[in-house]
Amino acid sequence: MTAPVIRALAARYYTDPSVYEAERERLLARTWQFAGHASQLANPGDYFAFEISGESLFCIKGRDGVVRTFYNVCQHRAHQLLSGAGSVRVLVCPYHAWTYELTGELRAGPNLAAVEGFERAMVCLTEVRTEVFANFIFVNLDDDARPMDEWFPGVRDEFMEWVPDWERLQPLEWVEVQERCNWKISVENYSECYHCARNHHTFTSGVVKPQTYDIRPQGYCLRHTTECAGIDMLTYEIDTTRPHAEEYSSWFLWPMFSFQVYPGNVLNTYHWRALDPQNVVAWRGWYTVDGGDSETIRRLAAQDRATTVEEDILLVESVQRGLKSRGYVPGPLVIDPERGLRSEHSIQIMQQWVRNALDD
Ligand code: FES
Ligand SMILES: [Fe+2]
Repeated sequence: MTAPVIRALAARYYTDPSVYEAERERLLARTWQFAGHASQLANPGDYFAFEISGESLFCIKGRDGVVRTFYNVCQHRAHQLLSGAGSVRVLVCPYHAWTYELTGELRAGPNLAAVEGFERAMVCLTEVRTEVFANFIFVNLDDDARPMDEWFPGVRDEFMEWVPDWERLQPLEWVEVQERCNWKISVENYSECYHCARNHHTFTSGVVKPQTYDIRPQGYCLRHTTECAGIDMLTYEIDTTRPHAEEYSSWFLWPMFSFQVYPGNVLNTYHWRALDPQNVVAWRGWYTVDGGDSETIRRLAAQDRATTVEEDILLVESVQRGLKSRGYVPGPLVIDPERGLRSEHSIQIMQQWVRNALDD
């Protein structure tokens, strides 16, 4: 018996605001989302604010060295507490000056003693599940979410093996990429290389050896691996004595983050933020030991922005326009049982994750 043809998701998943609202509740608020890098919080009291699908949050380091995340809202009458990044001794609400400890407990407020029956312990900032994963801070708005090591089995150990300097790395550059498309179009495009040969000349001729390219699921991670085209063709020097120095590997952590390691154990990352149903921002992160300047890394970041990233923007924005066409009927995915570069099995897997989140 032949297996049925698998069709791509219907267009409304990418265009309909009600699908996006359902995703915010049932998918984005229940998965691990990248918040920032631990090096952004070097000292107690250091914080940064950010948004995950419309929720304002902030991460802050306690005096005990623990990184905590809170909803960015005062528990008095809902003024927001922080914006941007900086350092504080205690959290002071700008509205009526209630103050909170770095652990979220209420410390004091003007004239609170006048309130009969009031106890400080009644009030505490609302905390968000947080994990520091090899110095990358992730949050999950679902208090019952399973830990990242269960979502992404084996990834932490592999990452540390491929990126031996991980403890000393700091971001050197964040490159912001605006895309006028639904976030899923962008992450799907990232997660298949069926389009690479036609569209990414630099990537397929300089970085990877296409016939060895593979993508396979590892829990909710999609792991990309490939051997590299002649290491001598690389435009930068690498230390080939280090393990995995001659490989390319990436770990896409569903739904909006990816670690990529280029030959020479060079780490870069992707993280996406959905802005609305038809707009997403992708950030490319580039890291160096102690955040030291590196002409090589800056050149790689600029080259990547000018080639692969630029090529992908044109693709994903055209798809968003195409999905609005009355004439579009979702086509069959190209699922090759042998997987490989020219297969869309990874798209089938991701689209099933979307259906599971929205339809259960
Ligand atoms: S809203 Fe924060 S102190 Fe009143
Ligand atoms: Fe691409």
